[in-house]
Amino acid sequence: MTDVFRPGYHFTPPAHWMNDPNGLVFYDGEYHLFYQHHPHSNVWGPMHWGHAVSRDLVNWQHLPIALVPDEQGMIYSGSAVVDWEDTAGFGKEALVIFFTYNKNYYETQNLAYSLDKGRTWTKYEGNSILTPPPDTPDFRDPKVIWYGSRESGHWVMSLAAGRSIRFYTSSNLRDWEFSGSFSGHGSADGVWETPDLFELPVDGGPATRWVLTVGIGNGGPAGGSATQYFVGGFDGMTFHSENPPEATLWADWGADFYAPQSWSDEPNGRRIAIAWLSNWKYAIFTPTAAEDWRSAFSVPRELSLRRTEAGIRLVQRPIAELESLRGEHRHWENIIVGPAQNLLAGLEGYQYEIIAELEPEPNTTEFGFSLRVGSDEQTVVKYELERCRLVIDRTHSGSVDFHADFAAVHAADLALRENRLRLRILVDRSTLDVFAQDGLLSMTEAIFPSAGSRGMELFTTGGGLKVRRLDVYFMSAAKFL
Ligand code: FRU
Repeated sequence: MTDVFRPGYHFTPPAHWMNDPNGLVFYDGEYHLFYQHHPHSNVWGPMHWGHAVSRDLVNWQHLPIALVPDEQGMIYSGSAVVDWEDTAGFGKEALVIFFTYNKNYYETQNLAYSLDKGRTWTKYEGNSILTPPPDTPDFRDPKVIWYGSRESGHWVMSLAAGRSIRFYTSSNLRDWEFSGSFSGHGSADGVWETPDLFELPVDGGPATRWVLTVGIGNGGPAGGSATQYFVGGFDGMTFHSENPPEATLWADWGADFYAPQSWSDEPNGRRIAIAWLSNWKYAIFTPTAAEDWRSAFSVPRELSLRRTEAGIRLVQRPIAELESLRGEHRHWENIIVGPAQNLLAGLEGYQYEIIAELEPEPNTTEFGFSLRVGSDEQTVVKYELERCRLVIDRTHSGSVDFHADFAAVHAADLALRENRLRLRILVDRSTLDVFAQDGLLSMTEAIFPSAGSRGMELFTTGGGLKVRRLDVYFMSAAKFL
């Protein structure tokens, strides 16, 4: 029996449980991807770091497990860098991993390094490099970056500690000094986890801002875990948000986008992030179908910043490399459809991309797509005009009864621009990455439709819809070796 849920072009573990992406670094032609992994079960357990490499972020080669738990604890989330100048003394161009040991809820920061392009890893004998301040049980997920010029910069570690992010600096990756902390902004409904920190040009530059992304374990816009971000400044020591403390900015409004991390040393200077496409609320209960694996990552996304009327906002777009998987293509432009019409009638698929620019006529109340449509199943992505919001309705998306909170309608406020909605939707068996208004809003969700639910529909209610542009690309599967 083939696995109806395993995506064709989203990363999944070869078997068993996966959560956060870890240790994202590019070195010598390879993008490394590590991940929180339990190799003996399809539910969370003693954490290992699984490992894969790719030359294009589309096709992946699975490698042996990189880090296994030991007497010091389980291997929790973290990051990786190339130590170009051998600041740590491990050897020229060592790859260095930063991870959290968790032992009986005591969390410390630790190093491992590789001198053979990440094929084998040595845990540093001087571990732990950082122990928690008193009464700080949640002290984890180090993300390390180089700050400043190659000659006069230093290393910076962002670390989640309770409901704050702490910053540490170092010249040699082994000795770290506390340099500042950030808290009291955004949502603190759940514990803060998995920070990332990077600088991006605003509208292509020359102005820049620093972005701090933070996972919260609970209290997200679609319930459960979610990712917020802050925009502001970083002076090499600490981060300042340029927004009021009560402002909460969500990196994604869907239910399934957690613990994103970006690649260090991306060769083309892009900031590319990937996230766990699940939610702690129900992650261990999602259907696994024929093969014994659980959960996927989002597609890699290129990040940028755009100045909007509300302030500077994060923009996400699927990386261009994914276009190499595009196959059979349908295209429409400048036509008007009415409420009883379905332009997509007869098209079937479970692995495809939709690009649309849609403009409602005056009486239209809502419009959008029904995806993975079967006899009594469908997942709806639609825009509601009265409430000015983008909605994903997965209440009838397929298998939903594995957890009481899964069958839900999720929504995000969104304005039309010149009365138009631009949508890009990536459908891949059990995943949905939705981008609206050129990536200003993203909503990412898991769905578990029956294999036979393959229909698609473009609908409009109450009035007509101008289809300025509509493309459907059927996608081939990426290679997973
Ligand atoms: C986030 C997280 C991290 C932790 C890891 C454990 O999803 O809770 O904070 O390091 O998962 O697997």
